[in-house]
Amino acid sequence: MPQLIAGNWKMHGLKAEAAALAQGVAAGAQGLGCELLVCPPALHVAAVAEILAGTPVAVGGQDCHQAEQGAHTGDVSAKMLRDVGASWVILGHSERRQNHGETDELIREKTQAAMAAGVTPIVCVGETAEQRAGGQETEVVGWQLAGSLPKPFDGVVAYEPVWAIGTGKTATEADVAQMHAFIREELVRQFGDAGMGIRILYGGSVKASNAAALLAVPHVGGALVGGASLKADEFLAIARAAKPD
Ligand code: PGA
Repeated sequence: MPQLIAGNWKMHGLKAEAAALAQGVAAGAQGLGCELLVCPPALHVAAVAEILAGTPVAVGGQDCHQAEQGAHTGDVSAKMLRDVGASWVILGHSERRQNHGETDELIREKTQAAMAAGVTPIVCVGETAEQRAGGQETEVVGWQLAGSLPKPFDGVVAYEPVWAIGTGKTATEADVAQMHAFIREELVRQFGDAGMGIRILYGGSVKASNAAALLAVPHVGGALVGGASLKADEFLAIARAAKPD
């Protein structure tokens, strides 16, 4: 399976910047051996999807509500994302777990809603610096996987150690190797053989200069890229570092 290089634009960019970034990514997206995805702010998903229609770059949301519709002021459903051209959605990002109090149970419901709407979920897990300092990183990630993934699960997992997000501190290749092997074991425990085929992305300060090393680690099925996805050239350089099929 090709590696997936996903850009999480977070809350960055007015519409002209979003359009320019999408065009920049599309301009260099031909002939890469990986899958490419950009996840703009919800407000820009429709416009970016129009720009990227017919290119190899897919579009995703950064969150969705667990219901299909209803009285949920300010929220967006997976079906709405799908309707405007998104085929992926990031769920359970640590910024949503921390800033919006999202629990594993809620993330599982959102994941189910995404799958039901035909939108592929990218479910994020990862420990904080304190949890790692306390030697609890695998326990925490194990609980997150058990709580956040519905059965069956048709999506992607992203391991993003919270201390590596936006900090410039990348997990070492040894840390990534150990955690991705653990996540693979857990996925096989939860889903049997199907767990072997679930891609596991690494995220947290991925950039062009460290991408090749991180993407070469066993069980790394791609990258979830924040800050470095806001520059088309840098994002495309990461994509070129991905392993071919
Ligand atoms: P970062 O963010 O690449 O800026 O560390 C990654 C993420 O939060 O998905």
